[in-house]
Amino acid sequence: MTSQEIIALFDKHVIANYARIPIVFIRGEGSFLWDADGKRYIDLFPGWGVDGLGHCPPRVVAAIREQAGRLLHVANNYYMEPQGLLAKMLSERSFGGKCFFCNSGAEANEAAIKLARLAARAGRYKIITFANSFHGRTLGAISATAQPKYHKGFEPIVPGFLYADFNDLASAEALVDSETCAVMVEPVQGEGGVNVPDPAFLKGLRDLCDRHGMLLIFDEVQTGCGRLGQWFGYQHFNVQPDIITLAKALGGGAAIGALIARPEAAARLVPGTHASTFGGNPLACAAAIATLETIEQEGLLPHVRRIGEHTLGRLRELKARFPFIRDARGLGVMIGLELDRPGKGVVERCLRRGLLINCTHDTVLRLLPAMNITREVMDQGLAILEQTLAEE
Ligand SMILES: Cc1ncc(COP(=O)(O)O)c(C=O)c1O
Repeated sequence: MTSQEIIALFDKHVIANYARIPIVFIRGEGSFLWDADGKRYIDLFPGWGVDGLGHCPPRVVAAIREQAGRLLHVANNYYMEPQGLLAKMLSERSFGGKCFFCNSGAEANEAAIKLARLAARAGRYKIITFANSFHGRTLGAISATAQPKYHKGFEPIVPGFLYADFNDLASAEALVDSETCAVMVEPVQGEGGVNVPDPAFLKGLRDLCDRHGMLLIFDEVQTGCGRLGQWFGYQHFNVQPDIITLAKALGGGAAIGALIARPEAAARLVPGTHASTFGGNPLACAAAIATLETIEQEGLLPHVRRIGEHTLGRLRELKARFPFIRDARGLGVMIGLELDRPGKGVVERCLRRGLLINCTHDTVLRLLPAMNITREVMDQGLAILEQTLAEE
């Protein structure tokens, strides 16, 4: 089919809830994508963070092929090896917690919200979240998301969410009462503009939760699975949460979400409380196991730290050169460049030059490159970005 024919299919049959760019991608390899006209793109935002090992990582593809020929799906009222092995790997690389599996970030957060209410003393149900957070698009997840634009049209949202200011411990403390059961936070805010908090803020939240018997939930859907140069973002800040949620890069491109909870809290999720038909299916788990193995065997955590610093250094040079750049910030391969104006035009012109990046929160250019991107490809992408910024 031609690109036009495919786009026409969408126009006729697919609900238009995404603002799609009229490009049809047909192949991907590492940090490169090719469209139907054979044009090659450098992808510094692969799959919005899902393709954390780039497109079609060979070990993940091989694991999916192998697993697909053996067992695709069995229901969760039986046992299956890949789910157990993946849970062990996640537990060992985090804080020895137990895992629940689902299919997406929003679902992982729904599970965390339900578990927080379940684990709390009777009558406690309120959860504190933070301005400019993003936790997903289900009704519970938008209610946790402290941005009115995501609530609009869906009110009344789920009651019990209270919004504090990110990086402002006192604002969170002021919201705690006898009905509060948890605090939920992204260790680095992604969609909200790549906001890196002061480590003292996250430590303070841990302390606040300890003092009031609340659970600390880290939404690591974007920061987890190596993106910040540690297995999980909390390890960078040296603050241990009670629950973390994962998705995006976990499956190396396959759909999988997970929640890891400290054993005491995890014990509350007994039969009948929560479930997901597809959650933890052998195919997705085989992909996630191969993803974690690749990160380990290819030494990607230190690589992420190095390439992240290199990239941030280059972006700081751009900031020194272009007065309309307000800030260059990030951790590992989660990087933002804040402009004093909307970034949409820069994204569009980069695209025409064969570079895929994102703009979030109107003015923040966002890069979530693959964890295995080489310095050479990163520099090629940054050169296109620089050329494009020079036209502003
Ligand atoms: C921090 C965070 N939480 C949750 C989500 C929602 O994940 P999903 O789209 O897989 O439901 C996202 C997606 O961008 C995210 O960045």
